[in-house]
Amino acid sequence: MDEIPLSLSYDDVLLVPQRTAVRSRKQVDVSAQLSRHVRLQIPVVSANMDTVTESTMAIAMARAGGIGIIHRFLPVEQQAAEVRRVKRAENFVIDQPYACRPTDSIAHALDLMHDYDVGTLMVVDSTGTLAGMVGTRDVQFARDRTRPVESVMRPLDRLVVGPPDVSTDRAAEIFAEQKIDKLPLVDTQGRLVGLITARDMLRISENPGAAKDRRGRLLVGAAIGVIGDYMERAAALLEQDADVLVIDIAHGHSEQVIEVAKEVRARWPQVELIAGNVATAEGTLDLIAAGVDAVKVGVGPGSACTTRIVAGAGVGQFTAVSECARAARAHNIPIIADGGIKASGDLTKAMAAGAHTVMIGGMLAGTDESPGRPLTRRGRRYKHYRGMASLAATVDRRKRERLDPGADDEWVSDVVPEGVEALVAYRGSTHEVLTQLVGGLRSGMSYCGAFTLDEMYEKARFTRITSAGLRESHPHDVEFD
Ligand code: XMP
Repeated sequence: MDEIPLSLSYDDVLLVPQRTAVRSRKQVDVSAQLSRHVRLQIPVVSANMDTVTESTMAIAMARAGGIGIIHRFLPVEQQAAEVRRVKRAENFVIDQPYACRPTDSIAHALDLMHDYDVGTLMVVDSTGTLAGMVGTRDVQFARDRTRPVESVMRPLDRLVVGPPDVSTDRAAEIFAEQKIDKLPLVDTQGRLVGLITARDMLRISENPGAAKDRRGRLLVGAAIGVIGDYMERAAALLEQDADVLVIDIAHGHSEQVIEVAKEVRARWPQVELIAGNVATAEGTLDLIAAGVDAVKVGVGPGSACTTRIVAGAGVGQFTAVSECARAARAHNIPIIADGGIKASGDLTKAMAAGAHTVMIGGMLAGTDESPGRPLTRRGRRYKHYRGMASLAATVDRRKRERLDPGADDEWVSDVVPEGVEALVAYRGSTHEVLTQLVGGLRSGMSYCGAFTLDEMYEKARFTRITSAGLRESHPHDVEFD
């Protein structure tokens, strides 16, 4: 057997402090390339896992300048609806406002409000002409819900409307002068062509660092698999304007992934495509040759992963990221370092090793924005987190896909989990977690004498440490209250 190369984890190395001209953390630029054409304001991506990223997390991530990848363990329509929610969460002009007809019943309007998760509907006739607006307050207490919407709506003559090309400043003036919170936009024939809401305008001014598409909407990605409905899923996600598709399976250096990447690329030449996970330069180069715009790296480093224990396969994440990044940078393709980020120092090491962004599961699973409610055990608050190859996630997926309805016991016995279900400490808001992570990264960049992430990659020098060094790195010989 050839000599076995060493593979290192983040904990095995430290960045060597270097002379720096950085005087304040605010001077450093942490913007990063997610994929060939998509740029983020901060280099952080929330993981496509069902206990981490649905629309609420994706909205928080994009508002903070990163991006969330909506997981694929949902029926196609539901995953597409999650993408739609993000794309509509915060745009200056909503192009196709949710609407109903004047003759629709109040009950139908309420159903639409519930399905779309909005409090107001535009009322338009069959020619698309604006007839009025109806809000929850207009219909909530209606005794007879079979009555038509037109009997309770605010009619056009009581609405303030704007022209299609209204500027942000003029819209802000109208909101202030008229004391309204919704401004429908109509063309010269009175047809509804858009909607501006006061809430969106406020948010936009509060979040100048948000990650946005060309039309001012928040960025969002979505995952697809490599079997079954993946093309239908991709079509539905792109229909809702998902900014990136992530072909995501545990062993991404597979012919299936390569074939699916080529198929997706052939059908949608312009799609921004990410694939993974791989852990070697060869895997990275094969995915790049298949036409992807970024490669996701990480086999087994995740906090809920047992792949390395169950399958015996994987590469220390620091080595995997360094080698994949070296191969990908020669082709100008970004790397996403996926899994194993336990603290901001790991994020800094990943970037310095050549990653453009990191994907995070466990550290974000404990936030308010992850799916599910916190629970309390022995006086402490937690949230659920589970590997997507854990027993429960696999059984849920099989049930949903109806692979073998009615045979729960057999499913359980033939599943070989490669992940665990666990509790993670409740951590407050995603914003707070990201503030700490990115603050640590800025500090690390300063230690490397770097003003940008590319400069840090160029300048970074690492030192390997021993287990004594790791012990020395953590708080030691002190007692906590
Ligand atoms: P962290 O460390 O941020 O890692 O919690 C998140 C990443 O873990 C991967 N993942 C898995 N890996 N078995 C695995 O071996 C699993 O069940 C599993 N579920 C998630 C995934 O890459 C994710 O982004």
